[in-house]
Amino acid sequence: MIELRGLTKRYGDKTAVDHLTFSVRPGMVTGFLGPNGAGKSTTMRMMLGLDSPTSGDVRIDGRRYDQLRDPLNSIGALLEAKAVHGGRSAYNHLLCMAQSNNIPKKRIDSVLDLVGLSDVAKKRPKGFSLGMGQRLGIAAALLGDPQILMFDEPVNGLDPEGIHWIRNLMKHLAGEGRTVFVSSHLMSEMALTAEHLVVIGRGRLLADTSMADFIAENSRTFVRVRTPQPERMRDVLVSFGVRPVFEQDGAMQVEGVEPARLGEIAAWYQVVLHELSPQKASLEEAFMRLTAESVEYQAHDQAAQPPPGDRGTGGAPARRNR
Ligand SMILES: Nc1ncnc2c1ncn2[C@@H]1O[C@H](COP(=O)(O)OP(=O)(O)OP(=O)(O)O)[C@@H](O)[C@H]1O
Ligand SMILES: [Mg+2]
Repeated sequence: MIELRGLTKRYGDKTAVDHLTFSVRPGMVTGFLGPNGAGKSTTMRMMLGLDSPTSGDVRIDGRRYDQLRDPLNSIGALLEAKAVHGGRSAYNHLLCMAQSNNIPKKRIDSVLDLVGLSDVAKKRPKGFSLGMGQRLGIAAALLGDPQILMFDEPVNGLDPEGIHWIRNLMKHLAGEGRTVFVSSHLMSEMALTAEHLVVIGRGRLLADTSMADFIAENSRTFVRVRTPQPERMRDVLVSFGVRPVFEQDGAMQVEGVEPARLGEIAAWYQVVLHELSPQKASLEEAFMRLTAESVEYQAHDQAAQPPPGDRGTGGAPARRNR
């Protein structure tokens, strides 16, 4: 269990993390989401004692990180995959960590095998690809067989097989009763991996809820209706006080009526239906809806730009002024 109470971090006049209070519970994967610059990595660094809070605190199974006896046996983390001594072999990198945390040497071979790096164990990580670096970082996180695992954007640079592997690994670790806390910008991946979500924006807590509730609370649900008699169906719906919205291809979006009820209405009024499908928003839509006000670094929409030559700042990322 990881517990944050009023955790706050200021850098000069910038508040990177603003009074965060939440707990990350065992037995499930908790996704940590937020736009660029929201404070995710800063929060994770404070969990590991790599940055000290301006106020508030964070506990790992009831203790501050610096009070843990052999920290790697309690919490394993992948923050920066490139934070490795480039001249030391992958094996020796893990050996240093094992020796300073009372971890038996044989554990090194098992984690290298687990992440698929056994063949390059004697090679130096400076020649590793991005994905191999991520795998070494994951091996380091697993080295002490900790009950708590934390990964900051672990699928960065991984190929589809690697992404699939990480997803299953995290679910497996959570299934063993461990606490798994993971940040990612890949919403489709997060939707498949995480059961619970913590969402922050501009350092503040925006949501701490189950994946299902998050999507339900932050999205619009409707039923798509397709019929060769759209005018008739619309008139029938209007007589029930429901106003459908037409899509470009003629399909209708109907809000506030259950699909079964819509089917019964269509049958009663003898309207032929070609489609009657409940639509649920994706995690990505729900996330963008919730965090729209918290996005700090936003690219200009090219479609909304004046033509080239008539352009002021171009398409460079811009900071939104509020
Ligand atoms: N060492 C530092 N000194 C000054 N400002 C910092 C420092 N570390 C982070 N910040 C600022 O704190 C804010 C939060 O940064 P952080 O890296 O935690 O965001 P993030 O949510 O991890 O973003 P991303 O999704 O881009 O990784 C940013 O505005 C960043 O510029
Ligand atoms: Mg980050």
